[in-house]
Amino acid sequence: MNEPERNCLVRTVASTQSEMTEIILPNDTNILGNLLGGRLMHFIDLTGAMAAYRHSRTHVVTAAMDHIDFIRPVRLGDLLTLKSSVNRAFTSSMEVGVKVWAENTRTGGVVHVASAYLVFVAVDEHGRRQNVPELLPETPDEIRRHADALRRREHRERERVRQSREREVTAAQDACPPQP
Ligand SMILES: CC(C)(COP(=O)(O)OP(=O)(O)OC[C@H]1O[C@@H](n2cnc3c(N)ncnc32)[C@H](O)[C@@H]1OP(=O)(O)O)[C@@H](O)C(=O)NCCC(=O)NCCS
Repeated sequence: MNEPERNCLVRTVASTQSEMTEIILPNDTNILGNLLGGRLMHFIDLTGAMAAYRHSRTHVVTAAMDHIDFIRPVRLGDLLTLKSSVNRAFTSSMEVGVKVWAENTRTGGVVHVASAYLVFVAVDEHGRRQNVPELLPETPDEIRRHADALRRREHRERERVRQSREREVTAAQDACPPQP
């Protein structure tokens, strides 16, 4: 595949910040009235994509979602607020952080319920990778997240290599199954 063109733009973290609020309805919950984990992941994916769109200004696809801790249950009728921003931009990929809070509408109490990191890849309308602008971290928190994102990328790369080797071994075993 041809290498995508270099992107000379620079964007700030603030310009990528995105937010979504949802009211949790019966369709979103299990029989105990708690928000379904898969539904929460869907909201996280959407909010993460908003930040990635704002940074890349092109189409994006989700390449990875790191493990998510469901810290507290979200109840039917709660207001769910999700906030996202790009932590670091690489060549065609961006790491986005998403943090989620639930608000009890009767008491007004707000609790942190989940956090996740996602990687989005910028692509054009034909699915060809696009280089993304550089991200400029400005505040101490943004600079810390920027550095942490590089460590997580290195960890993901090691994991990708390990999984790809495992797939090769499995494919070889499937091609030549042991004789009875
Ligand atoms: C994500 C995808 C575009 C990567 O394509 P690819 O040809 O494997 O790309 P490469 O290996 O050349 O990597 C391209 C970039 O993606 C990143 N990437 C690819 N797979 C990744 C993964 N599993 N986790 C994190 N980053 C990943 C690479 O680090 C690289 O980033 P960089 O350009 O910033 O250095 C491709 O695997 C894909 O289309 N996957 C399906 C996406 C999808 O359908 N998502 C759900 C719906 S949106």
